[in-house]
Amino acid sequence: MEFSHIQEAVDFLKNQTQDFQPQVGIILGTGLGSLVDDITIQASISYETIPHFPVSTVESHKGKLLFGTLSGKKVVCMQGRFHYYEGYSMQQVSFPVRVMKLLGIEQLIVSNAAGGLNPAYQTSDLMLIQDHISLFLPENPLRGTNLHELGDRFPDMSEVYDASMLEKAAQIAELHQIRAHKGVYVSVTGPQLETRSEYRLLRQLGADAVGMSTVPEVIVARHMNLPVFGISVITDMCIPETLEKAELSKILAAAYQAEPLMTLIIKELLK
Ligand code: HPA
Repeated sequence: MEFSHIQEAVDFLKNQTQDFQPQVGIILGTGLGSLVDDITIQASISYETIPHFPVSTVESHKGKLLFGTLSGKKVVCMQGRFHYYEGYSMQQVSFPVRVMKLLGIEQLIVSNAAGGLNPAYQTSDLMLIQDHISLFLPENPLRGTNLHELGDRFPDMSEVYDASMLEKAAQIAELHQIRAHKGVYVSVTGPQLETRSEYRLLRQLGADAVGMSTVPEVIVARHMNLPVFGISVITDMCIPETLEKAELSKILAAAYQAEPLMTLIIKELLK
């Protein structure tokens, strides 16, 4: 990862957006894209036009960087994210986060669809991410020469998810009677879903939900000391004894159902 590549993408975007300076970065997960309908958009830039940006391959993701206003805040929103299972390196997956940081964001909000490991959860519940487990990832976005301009060689991970944003989100959820748990997200690469034995193992290791994204971006954000809020939509339950066959249509339906609630929490949180 070369610092000059990040800078070139940043310069391009500043030029394209008349120096729009976002305060908050947002990454939307699978089936969770409709938050963008609430953004008053000022500029929309396709990933393929941005220097050094990876290009999105999954059809359910539109690859665009949106600049605009949401809840009175200036935001930059990734409509479509990059997954390791698509063939990108971890550096590529997390590249946009570095770009957004150099554009000026002071907070990062990430969402994802995840499988529920905690038996107290139900499909379409929300999980406010309290912590994560990254140990199952085969590669690390920070591997290689450290970019000292951005952060330390050995970034601290004692509080990855910003405690005050987490508390505020929990209060918003309670006020609106939204089922939102605080929990631990474990990342895997996918693309296959887990076996029953793998779900059992992940649960025993202390995870409440499992998914194929988020952690690489969050590691890179924390390297740059960016406060992070993460939220998962539980799209399918992963209890070994009662596991049902995974179907993408059911996962997307569960995401669709919970999406307005997630959107409400994010919009209130930004205020
Ligand atoms: N495993 C991994 N990723 C997921 C799952 C799952 O069960 N559900 C939604 N994303």
